[in-house]
Amino acid sequence: MKLDYKYLDTIQKCQNLADLEQFRLSLFGKSGEITQVLRELKKLSPEEKKTAGKEINGIKKILETALQDKADQLSVKKESNIPDSTLPGIKPNVGYLHPLTKVINEITDIFRYLGFSVADGPEMETDEYNFQKLLLDKDHPSRDTQETYYFDEKRLLRVHTSSVQVRYMETHKPPIRIIVPGRVYRRDQIDAWHLPSFYQIEGLMVDDKTTLTDLLGTLEFMVKKLFGEERKIKFYGHHFPYTEPSLEAAMLNEAGEWKEILGCGMVHPQVLKNCGIDPVKYQGWAFGMGPDRIAMLKYGITDIRLLHSNDLRFLQQ
Ligand code: DAH
Repeated sequence: MKLDYKYLDTIQKCQNLADLEQFRLSLFGKSGEITQVLRELKKLSPEEKKTAGKEINGIKKILETALQDKADQLSVKKESNIPDSTLPGIKPNVGYLHPLTKVINEITDIFRYLGFSVADGPEMETDEYNFQKLLLDKDHPSRDTQETYYFDEKRLLRVHTSSVQVRYMETHKPPIRIIVPGRVYRRDQIDAWHLPSFYQIEGLMVDDKTTLTDLLGTLEFMVKKLFGEERKIKFYGHHFPYTEPSLEAAMLNEAGEWKEILGCGMVHPQVLKNCGIDPVKYQGWAFGMGPDRIAMLKYGITDIRLLHSNDLRFLQQ
């Protein structure tokens, strides 16, 4: 007897277990085709029986295997419609806030607690608001095209959030208490501490009696809230054209190095005047801090590029 490939074909075409079983019986049932061939074997001589028996058993094995495979395949198909409630579930990927978002939110909350509100301004600025009204003259180094992305003579990507100070003072009367979180752009050389785009949080207070010590106390309060009572902040003299006096502040990193985190000072009387505020009646102080750097100090991150790379291996920590 030879294997008839039609059998295998029929097995493959069975659509359900019942059809398959019916076909199995037509082969191996009491009067099935294979059963009958096996019955015929008895009539043969011992010599013939040996060879024919070998053949038929081989065919039997092939068909049984094909039947079993098909049965397995059909029953998996059948079962897959019924959810197995005992299987472990698929865990959904849970998102977390980005460390930078967290730091910006925390700083914003601290200033809200102190009575500041949040203001906003455009990232595409004019030369006037980004520079001129802040007394950054045409020959000031930070106006260098090396450091600023210009669209044309008048328009540019803001290099700091200080431009929003001007916009806010022009449209609001004192007392003013705002913070401005936002993105800024500079043609900086990329390294572990610099990127061409990063964040700043600007702060501005204008009132009829507010002083430099209020500024220092406010910033120290913020640092202690953010990092704990033990954390130290150091102020030292600096120069910004739009503040007088001007200071910078630094904090210690894990390696014991002082890292600059902000610039600040008393708003220059001429800046108040430029924005329509009487500098005899009012004083103001302002600061601009780098939340990227603060996040690096808070989470012990040594490379600013990690904060902007969206690498999940980093973010999931
Ligand atoms: N604009 C400064 C910078 O980008 C930071 C700064 C310094 C902001 C002094 C201020 C300020 O408001 O008063 O480095």
